[in-house]
Amino acid sequence: MQLGNSIYLDYQATTPVDPRVKEEMAAYDDFFANPHSVGHFLGQQAAMAVDSAKADVESYIGSAKDEVIFTSGATEANNQAIASVLFANKTARTKILVGALEHKCIKNAATYFATYLGYSVEEVPVLPSGLIDLEAYKNMLSEEVLLVCVMSVNNEIGTIQDIKQLSELAHEYGALFHCDAAQAPEATNIDVRDWDVDMLSLSAHKAYGPKGIGALYIKNSLQAQLPPLMHGGGQQFGMRSGTLPTGLCVGFAKALTISKEELAQTRSRLLSLKQRFLENLSKSDTEFLINGDSIRRHPGNINLQFVGRNATSLLSSLQPEISASTGSACNSEMILASHVLKAIGLSDDQAMSSLRFSLGRFTDEKQIDQATEIIRRELHASV
Ligand SMILES: Cc1ncc(COP(=O)(O)O)c(C=O)c1O
Repeated sequence: MQLGNSIYLDYQATTPVDPRVKEEMAAYDDFFANPHSVGHFLGQQAAMAVDSAKADVESYIGSAKDEVIFTSGATEANNQAIASVLFANKTARTKILVGALEHKCIKNAATYFATYLGYSVEEVPVLPSGLIDLEAYKNMLSEEVLLVCVMSVNNEIGTIQDIKQLSELAHEYGALFHCDAAQAPEATNIDVRDWDVDMLSLSAHKAYGPKGIGALYIKNSLQAQLPPLMHGGGQQFGMRSGTLPTGLCVGFAKALTISKEELAQTRSRLLSLKQRFLENLSKSDTEFLINGDSIRRHPGNINLQFVGRNATSLLSSLQPEISASTGSACNSEMILASHVLKAIGLSDDQAMSSLRFSLGRFTDEKQIDQATEIIRRELHASV
């Protein structure tokens, strides 16, 4: 995707809304009535659109009917998953395990709710590939563990975890398993039954849907025990109060349906574009190292270390021509190296010299060739 002078290579931050999704949403422009006002015809029409969108999301993840609630995004879904389990717990279990590569909304929600409610949080280490260190994970599991949270696909280095294996191990110890699958739609097939997860989070804007909508899958048998995060009018069976945005629900469902239909073709197209990107850079004498596993990886994810360079300065010198991302986080005093890159063993300096380019549905060969030439030019100019 090229907007004016800018080549967009930041699809894992967010995706543009697919024109087919926009068209579907436009068809529901007049469905402004409250989908929870089912006493009148217009409300019923909106309710039917929301129900049908929910059924599509359920079918997308292979769940049964009424196992999905809409949320404002994956941040809210992840917060609800963690908070509800901790609030509801009546057992003697006191620990939550979270993967070392989890998004901040899992890490920070786990720390916040655990501290507030008297639980402890332990981080499950990963191997240099980014895959969960199975031996360490097995050693950390015990009858004290209440909940395990491991993401399906990482947002910075694209690592794809074996969720089925991890959830089965958690269940052997009677722990619940939550999976943040916000980055999964472009990378893998989600199947909550096969993966045997208890809860799973999704976000529309990572899958060519609109911003402001996501979903939380909660296994049927758990629902009665888990309190909501949002209290109010009791919408969505009391599991998440608030009036649903009909158009966003419809767009989200359409986006997931397209992702599923096109997954195989997307994967192979993105893999070949990624290959071209890496070959172009190699041919131009650009020195780089690839961060993370090369096989179990999001097909559009490229995370490169430009040894001895500062990624923030490099990204700034690439403006406005290339949109990419450093994994570093800003706080009020300084820029902190990405916790993901540090968890796979990079030093602060190595992490601070790394940039993520994420390719997507509207990336093409011409953009790859232009982008790699611009990167080469900048790197060679600043030697
Ligand atoms: C893995 C992962 N989880 C959660 C989120 C948060 O999603 P949302 O923007 O829908 O709240 C993101 C987005 O950056 C993500 O990449």
